[in-house]
Amino acid sequence: MLNAIPTAAYTGLSHTHKLVVLLFVVLYVVKLALLLFSEEKLDKMRENKPAKIFEMVLSFLFLGTGIAMWTAVADPFNTLFLIKIVAVFASIPLAVIGFKKKNKVLAILSVVLLFAAYGLAEVKKASYKKPETQDVVYNTTETSVYGKQLYEQYCQNCHGADGAAGLSGAKNLQTSTLSDEETKKQIVEGKGNMPAYEKVLNEKEIDAVVTHVKSLRK
Ligand code: HEC
Repeated sequence: MLNAIPTAAYTGLSHTHKLVVLLFVVLYVVKLALLLFSEEKLDKMRENKPAKIFEMVLSFLFLGTGIAMWTAVADPFNTLFLIKIVAVFASIPLAVIGFKKKNKVLAILSVVLLFAAYGLAEVKKASYKKPETQDVVYNTTETSVYGKQLYEQYCQNCHGADGAAGLSGAKNLQTSTLSDEETKKQIVEGKGNMPAYEKVLNEKEIDAVVTHVKSLRK
């Protein structure tokens, strides 16, 4: 396993991976639609050089960003995660054979597997592994201070120092009305573009971050 990557790199990687996967899924749906309704157009697409190159680049990025993400998540051997990877790797040969031989059943199966993997990824968010080199130094026992340090390390990229930056679709923390419990839950489980911190922060750290987040409210 490689060393963990910094938070900002993980965020960028995770967005790129998501976008690439989405494009990949769209491409396969288009190819499947052509196979089902217009084989002639599918043949044309398969002979089209730019389309071929696009697919190759996309496949390469899919695999590359996927592997990079895999080295960065906290629980790479999580069962759901492994099922997802198996689904993706099963769908690829099925798609290659299905589209080449124009076997509709195989092609449909490959797209279904791809969707299943996509769905699984949405259900169980991968949680980001704590980078060993980025450990916060607790130079104080005062909760409010290390809550701020943890916030600067893990949250500021999206939420900004004052909580109102709203990058990557992050909600404004100054106007948040969530209770302590709800805030905690969101940090532990993540939501939308926000990663889960379950494997990154322990209970005490989460409490400290919650205290800091609340201090940002206006
Ligand atoms: C990759 C960007 C990103 C990072 C890093 C991030 N967040 Fe978020 N955060 C979001 C997004 C996006 C939302 C909105 C999620 C939604 O509702 O779909 C959000 C929402 C929240 C909310 C809910 C606000 C409300 O009123 O609904 C809280 C609280 C929060 N984040 C705290 C944190 C804390 C604490 C950290 C660090 C441990 C953190 N976030 C790190 C992107 C991020």
